[in-house]
Amino acid sequence: MARYVICLAFILLLAAVPWPSAAAQHALGAGSSLTVEDHGRPFLTSSDGSFSCGFQEAGENAFSFSVWYAGAAEKTAVWTANPGVPVSGQSSRISFRGDGNLALDDANGTTVWESKTSGSGGGALTISLLDTGNLVISDPSTGGRAVWQSFDWPTDTLVPSQPLTKETRLVAGYFSLYYDNDNVLRLLYDGPEVSSNYWPNPDYSLFENNRIGYNTSRIGVLDDTGVFRSSDNLVVEASDLGPGIKRRLTIDHDGNLRIYSLSTSTGAWTVSWAALQQPCSAQGLCGENAICEYQPSLRCSCLPGHEMVNPRDWSQGCKPMLSSSTTSCGIHATPPEKFKFVELQDTDFYGFDLAVNFSVSFEDCKKLCLEMCSCAAFSYRLAGTGVCYPKGTLFNGYRSPNYAGSTHLKVPYSFDTSAAATSVSARGTAGLACNPNDDPVALTGSQDNRWPYLFAFAGVLGVLDLLFIATGWWFLSGKQSTPSSLEAGYTMLRGQFRRFTYRDLKAATGNFKEELGRGGSGVVYRGVVDQGRVVAVKKLAGVEQGDEEFWAEMTVIGRINHMNLVRTWGFCSEGRHKMLVYEYVENESLDRHLFATDRRPLPWDDRYRIALGTARGLAYLHHECLEWVVHCDVKPENILLTREFVAKIADFGLAKLSKRDDRSGVEFSRMRGTLGYMAPEWALNLPINAKVDVYSYGIVLLEIVTGRRISQQTTADGVLLEAGQVAQAARRVVARGDVGSLVDSRIQGQFNARQAQEMLRISLLCIEEKKKRPTMDEIAKALTELDDEDEHPAYRS
Ligand SMILES: *[C@@H]1O[C@H](CO)[C@@H](O)[C@H](O)[C@H]1NC(C)=O
Ligand SMILES: *[C@@H]1O[C@H](CO)[C@@H](O)[C@H](O)[C@H]1NC(C)=O
Ligand SMILES: *[C@@H]1O[C@H](CO)[C@@H](O)[C@H](O)[C@H]1NC(C)=O
Ligand SMILES: *[C@@H]1O[C@H](CO)[C@@H](O)[C@H](O)[C@H]1NC(C)=O
Repeated sequence: MARYVICLAFILLLAAVPWPSAAAQHALGAGSSLTVEDHGRPFLTSSDGSFSCGFQEAGENAFSFSVWYAGAAEKTAVWTANPGVPVSGQSSRISFRGDGNLALDDANGTTVWESKTSGSGGGALTISLLDTGNLVISDPSTGGRAVWQSFDWPTDTLVPSQPLTKETRLVAGYFSLYYDNDNVLRLLYDGPEVSSNYWPNPDYSLFENNRIGYNTSRIGVLDDTGVFRSSDNLVVEASDLGPGIKRRLTIDHDGNLRIYSLSTSTGAWTVSWAALQQPCSAQGLCGENAICEYQPSLRCSCLPGHEMVNPRDWSQGCKPMLSSSTTSCGIHATPPEKFKFVELQDTDFYGFDLAVNFSVSFEDCKKLCLEMCSCAAFSYRLAGTGVCYPKGTLFNGYRSPNYAGSTHLKVPYSFDTSAAATSVSARGTAGLACNPNDDPVALTGSQDNRWPYLFAFAGVLGVLDLLFIATGWWFLSGKQSTPSSLEAGYTMLRGQFRRFTYRDLKAATGNFKEELGRGGSGVVYRGVVDQGRVVAVKKLAGVEQGDEEFWAEMTVIGRINHMNLVRTWGFCSEGRHKMLVYEYVENESLDRHLFATDRRPLPWDDRYRIALGTARGLAYLHHECLEWVVHCDVKPENILLTREFVAKIADFGLAKLSKRDDRSGVEFSRMRGTLGYMAPEWALNLPINAKVDVYSYGIVLLEIVTGRRISQQTTADGVLLEAGQVAQAARRVVARGDVGSLVDSRIQGQFNARQAQEMLRISLLCIEEKKKRPTMDEIAKALTELDDEDEHPAYRS
């Protein structure tokens, strides 16, 4: 036994300590490099020969720098330095530079990726590829301490012993595997129009899914015997359980999560476990008005009478071929047209139910759909007495012989059903584009790199149409005064965003007992919904909006999902009762930590992370999710902090949505914002756009650095003048390079001068006149560059 332990320790030592002089290149010193022309040769190979790293083909004349299993017939990346940004096949080079930085340079000399390890550690650094597949840059002078390792920056794959943690996620296109705020491991589709979790099955509770939410360790590891264990109680086993087989856990571009096992005889990968038995249940694969099928490979097709919105991108879905609306709903209330139904066998569309009725005959279900003008189709299933689901929007369509039911599409009476049949098969050929990994079982690992680019075509142009479709039924059904019991609590977007009744929320908050805070837009109460999830319920004050407008804003808010934005779980709208249900953020708002005198002053690292997180959240609102969400009330009171001091912006989406066109400007019906943080445009009656948030952010940034209320040094009519004076004073200090005199003295000089300098530079730019202000995107990028915990390109920022 003792001998075994010593032997094991020796092996571990071998693996951990770089191997300076070995002839086999499993470790290299500074100054080594490999050019892309040499892509037949690995840069490094692990000492047991399991893994190699080097250039991998990623398309025509395009390469990436990756780690792969050496025994596989084709290079299957388990880690990639530059996913989605391949380098040229000529003159590109990976070098472990003299200063200890590993850098990937493109043909024209641009550094596409780097490990940012230059100057780390005391002595000359070494790079090695361990037998686990971990590419490690370590410092021999400190006993081989790793200064950087690829295991900390997973792309779409985990290899055995590589943990998935609360800081990491696996990403493939719009799909990702990550630990959610409630400590549960989930798969997320985060597309341009909708975002939703689809695994574990959102129709079931945590308990039914056999997961737990109370273990906060958030860690998952695949072991050497093919068992993946996660701290939320998930345990999955590969079908070929046992040691000695090479495996990997990968999120594929079809949104499924799979364990692959390598056959030593053929060098091919076979699937030994998959999260989704029915691959089409990954969302967003085929878009709206389309049907996903999986027999034997994944294929999308449009509904009868529909064609692809963008022939190169299925995620944008399909649109009606004839412009004439297929329903009698809409602003132009045409006289009710006669309708008929086209049956789509074995087909279901998940979510967007207008109602559900558990005991109804087929004919009554049909009648129900005819009577609801916003009903686009109904699903009918003979389970017991017959279940009827009228549908407002046709998303997440899939056809499967296992689905014991069918969907009936509502079409105008004049619709030619024979033409429809041909249109389906004609679309079928276009379905090739929907085929990322033709057959995952035969997938030999050549990651198809077209897929992310196809996704990239998904723009925001269609958003307005979609918004109308998605909100259509809401306000229309409101006008028809559908009984609220019918509407209440339906899953809007698969368990993510839902409608609550007033009674629900009254019960959840114990009759609005515990007040958490109050602000311009209303009072916030603590509440508990769904088996113990703590939420914040905001009673909106003075919402005079019509239902239409309210619904429209809800639809936008419900789709927003970013780690630096407070998540909205749902809403309530019953007459004058308008409420929002938010994620509960534990540690109060930034102002209490920044300005309160009875607390420990915020340490610098937290300040910087909060500034960066806030910038990322705003950048997401302005640029990534829907370009035209402007917050309009950015201030420390609206920046909430989690227990780990992660910034989460609250209260967004309540301003009227602004148009995307910069020049057109927008008429705001009422002023929003808080004096002291408001851009001069407000006072001057100039057009308002996202740059008002940039201004407010600039003031907040100054306050984060100085720990003082800059905004209070400004008065109601002197906003312009006073902010200008503060700026001038700051500018003089920055010009002298004496940032220390501006930084909050309570932290006693414990700050990073480069970061402080950059924050001040940015904040001064932000409070310039509108045209000179940077965008939030640019700010987030600039701050990320100076962030110690640097960002990986695969991360969503
Ligand atoms: C280098 O080439 C890449 C594309 O291959 C391009 O994006 C980048 O702008 C180029 N950089 C320079 C400095 O020309
Ligand atoms: C939480 O999960 C970790 C990792 O799976 C495990 O070691 C630990 O015992 C768990 N803690 C509790 C309280 O269940
Ligand atoms: C189901 O439909 C029947 C017939 O249309 C109706 O009488 C009944 O009230 C409905 N049930 C529910 C729960 O809506
Ligand atoms: C909030 O932050 C303070 C530090 O200011 C910390 O002591 C406290 O534990 C945190 N509260 C919660 C609920 O995490």
